[in-house]
Amino acid sequence: MAKINAVITGVGAFLPEYRLTNEELSTMVDTNDEWIMTRVGIKERRILKEEGEGASYMGVKAIEDLVRKTGLNLDEVDLVVCTTVTPDAPVPSTAAIICDRAGIHNALGFDMNGACSGFLYGLDLVAQYIRSGSKKKVILVSAEKMSTITDYTDRTTCVLFGDAATAVLVEPTEDEGVGLMDSNLYTDGIGRNWLKIIAGGSAKPASHETIDAHEHYIYQEGKQVFKYAVTRMADAAAEIMERNKLTSDDIAWLVPHQANLRIISATAERMELNKEKVMINIEKYGNTTSATIPLCLYEWEKQLKKGDNLVLAAFGAGFTWGALYIKWGYNSK
Ligand code: UT7
Repeated sequence: MAKINAVITGVGAFLPEYRLTNEELSTMVDTNDEWIMTRVGIKERRILKEEGEGASYMGVKAIEDLVRKTGLNLDEVDLVVCTTVTPDAPVPSTAAIICDRAGIHNALGFDMNGACSGFLYGLDLVAQYIRSGSKKKVILVSAEKMSTITDYTDRTTCVLFGDAATAVLVEPTEDEGVGLMDSNLYTDGIGRNWLKIIAGGSAKPASHETIDAHEHYIYQEGKQVFKYAVTRMADAAAEIMERNKLTSDDIAWLVPHQANLRIISATAERMELNKEKVMINIEKYGNTTSATIPLCLYEWEKQLKKGDNLVLAAFGAGFTWGALYIKWGYNSK
């Protein structure tokens, strides 16, 4: 019997309409377009303005887009995994809310938090379900309403993040020329104090004091995070190339997490890839955490060809980081 592998067979997305530009940010905090463009590479980010709506709203919209594009029958979906650091609420899971709102009633569903590496962790995980034969139609949702955990009085973080959601369909295949070929994923809590949300969890529940101290927003020591991100993301990508005997000529695309253009460039350099093979859209959306990589796949979908070698690489809070090697599954219609 041929071996079963997991392959991406469709990509949907949702981007809120509102564009928060560098110009608008510079009226809110002491910053400017020149600093943001040269130090990070972002021009604008999308912000969800719909009152009372969170990650699940965007996740459902991304699933609707996926259904429109693929003709997927939601009754056949048997697994929904939602990667997010901004769940609608701690309980119930955002996956449960998404299933209900999208009309998915025959699936196992749960959330996972791999921070900015969430999509890589999620794809690796759902591939295990598929390879075991237990799941056949899987939606991997990455839904991040970063604007709710961003402190718009802190210039060192508020310029970085944006809101977005994606929904990726993953299915079994017996075709050896496509699918998830290799995973190289890591976690090391050494970074847990350099990028975190201090309050609102079980260690430090919400109180008037925590709210006054802005402790429900992202806290980041950017320089420390940068130091690790720039080496570890590149190391993980280089390692996966080496063990799969891939040269830069073999690789069609690097699909990097979009946190900082300088981190992306360092990874591409380490892989000896020229810029034409690197998906970059940080300028338009900023850092949408686990949604950045699938958002690139969504935007570049028409240029991808069946069998293309892609290296996906990320680095995020925890620290979490790593790289996946996939062979793209289809030619776009
Ligand atoms: O996706 C999850 C993982 N996260 C990351 O990968 C992020 C990694 N870190 C970074 O990308 C960068 O460290 C940042 C973009 C966050 C910051 O860039 P940096 O080049 O490391 O700047 P810095 O923090 O060292 O700050 C340099 C200067 C400081 O001023 P002084 O102390 O030199 O006078 C900051 O106060 O830039 C100042 N600064 C700003 N100036 C204008 C910091 N933020 C801003 C700002 N506008 N928004």
